[in-house]
Amino acid sequence: MRRVAVPTARPYDVLIGRDLLDELPALLGDGVQRVAVVYSPPLRATAERLRARLTGEGYEPYLLDVPDAEDAKRAEVAASCWSALGSSGFTRSDAVVGLGGGATTDLAGFVAATWLRGVRIVQVPTTLLGMVDAAVGGKTGINTAEGKNLVGSFHEPAGVLCDLDALETLPPGEMAGGLAEVVKCGFISDPGILDLVGSDAEKAADPSGVVVGELVERAVRVKAGVVAGDLTERTSSGGRVGREVLNYGHTFGHAIERVERYRWRHGSAVAVGMVYVAALSRLAGRLDAATADRHRAVLERIGLPTTYAGGAWDSLHSAMRVDKKARGDRLRFVVLDALAEPAILEGPDEGLLEAAYAEVAR
Ligand code: GLY
Repeated sequence: MRRVAVPTARPYDVLIGRDLLDELPALLGDGVQRVAVVYSPPLRATAERLRARLTGEGYEPYLLDVPDAEDAKRAEVAASCWSALGSSGFTRSDAVVGLGGGATTDLAGFVAATWLRGVRIVQVPTTLLGMVDAAVGGKTGINTAEGKNLVGSFHEPAGVLCDLDALETLPPGEMAGGLAEVVKCGFISDPGILDLVGSDAEKAADPSGVVVGELVERAVRVKAGVVAGDLTERTSSGGRVGREVLNYGHTFGHAIERVERYRWRHGSAVAVGMVYVAALSRLAGRLDAATADRHRAVLERIGLPTTYAGGAWDSLHSAMRVDKKARGDRLRFVVLDALAEPAILEGPDEGLLEAAYAEVAR
C-alpha cells in the first residue's frame, strides 16, 4: 500500500492500493458511531460491502444513495441527505463517507461540511479523476442553475482511500480522462510522470497494471504539496503560484465544456486546454517549442484530443471571461516558463489569445 501525507493544518493520509476497503475503519478515527455512506447506484455492491464491514466493527452504518454523476450535485439532493442524517440522529462526532466519482465525493463533502457546521468525512473515490483531483484537497460543492460549483466550501477529509481495483470497471474513456489531470501534474511539477506516460502509454492506462499506482501516488503528491501551501486558493502573488496552479489548462478547457454544454468529458477539454495554454506560453515568449510540443505528443499517446473543431472563437473567448479565476475584465492563465515552472499570465494581448487558438483549431 502507498501512503501520501497531506500536510495541511489538519493533516490526513491518502492510501493507494488494491483491496483496500478494509482500511476504512482506521481512517474514520475515534469516537464515531454512525457512518453515512453516500454512494451512486452503480456502486451498490461496494456500498453493501462497506456496510457489512462497518457493522462487523461495531459502527451503525446508513447507506444514502444519490443520483449518478453530475445529477448528484443539486441542492435537492443535498437536502435529502441532510434529512436522512437528521432522521438517523447524526451528531457532530459521526462521519460521512463519499463513495463514487468526483461528483459524488463533491456532494458528500458538501453535506459533511454543512451538517452541524461540519462533520468528519472520509472520501473513497472510485474514478481516476476522483483519486487524483476531486477527493483530495477539500473542495466541496454543488451546482446551481447559474453554473457549476458556485456553492460550496473548503472541508478537508479525515482520510482518502484510493482502491485501484475500482478502476477496473470504469467505462471506456474514463481512464484517459483521469490521465489528463495526471499529465497536468507532470507538466506543472513532476516531469517523471511524463516519462512514465510517454514511455508506455498503454501500461499507464491499464487499470489493472502496476504503473497506475505510481501515477496516482505521484499526482496525489503534487496536489498534496500544492494544497498544503494554499488550501483556500488565495496566495498567487509575485512569482509564486498558489493552488491556482492546479487550473493549468482549465481556463480554455472550461470554456470548451461550457460551449459544448458539458457534453465533452472534463479530461478531454483539459487536454485541449493544456495544448492551448502551452501554445500561449510559447507565443508569449515564455516557453520553449520542444516543451510546448511535448504536450501534444504525450496527450495524443493516451488517446486524448489535442484540437478543437468547434470553430467558435467568439463563444470560447466570452466563456473564458466568466471563468471563476478571471479578475474583473482581465483574463488570467496559469502558463509555463519551463517544464515544471508555472507562472501567472494576466491580461494577455487579444492577438496572442487568438494566435494560440489557431494552433488548436482544426
Ligand atoms: N481541482 C482543482 C483544485 O482542487 O483546486
